[in-house]
Amino acid sequence: MPLSTASSQRRPLQPLGEQNALAALASGPQLLKIKSIEEQLSALNSAVICAFNQLLDLKDLNTGVHSTRLAEWALHVAGELGLDAGAQKDIEIAALLHDIGKVGIPDAILNKPARLTAEEYALMKKHPEYGWAVLRQIPGMERASLIILHHHESFDGSGYPGNLKGEEIPMGSRIVSVIDAFDAMVSSRPYRAGMPFEEAERRLLKATGTQFDPLVISSFLPHARSEMPAVFAAAGTTISTSL
Ligand SMILES: [Fe+2]
Repeated sequence: MPLSTASSQRRPLQPLGEQNALAALASGPQLLKIKSIEEQLSALNSAVICAFNQLLDLKDLNTGVHSTRLAEWALHVAGELGLDAGAQKDIEIAALLHDIGKVGIPDAILNKPARLTAEEYALMKKHPEYGWAVLRQIPGMERASLIILHHHESFDGSGYPGNLKGEEIPMGSRIVSVIDAFDAMVSSRPYRAGMPFEEAERRLLKATGTQFDPLVISSFLPHARSEMPAVFAAAGTTISTSL
């Protein structure tokens, strides 16, 4: 499914929290004006996300189903962990666009069928910074850009680019890290079938506390299990063929 189709099927993003606060203070014509600005900003926000999604599609970095699924899972975990609406919106944007920085990585590295050299891997590891540098320039996406910057940090401090540890890592980044890893494991690619849920679960649990936040894992795994039939349906396979 094209990303543009997938993006238009998603529910609209929520208005910005700060603007809601302004609206609460205003009345009459002022309120109408603020509401109109809110709607315009929200539409602009959605259009930018849609445009970037298409850019990812052009670079063959993503699929509509994949990014939509990631965003839905991230929102579910964020909601379950009690994050407010503003934080959930930031996480939704970050989940959709977390790998946008790969646009700046040469295709020869992105599509290399063999193991990357140390030099190539060092370049690949730049993609969170590239994504942050782009997204931070868009009003309203500053917090989402920080989530993107840190989506490859590890819970034990061994990740990149900041070697952040535990709660130093933005919660959104900890969520995106888990669901991105899980999605990569269970998704089918042209050259391989998706991994069975049990194996993906085993790997996530093994890396809990080192790579992944235990809180996010305990919130996500039960949800992930219930989502597996939809994942296999999107991949055009069944659970039994993947097992
Ligand atoms: Fe990434």
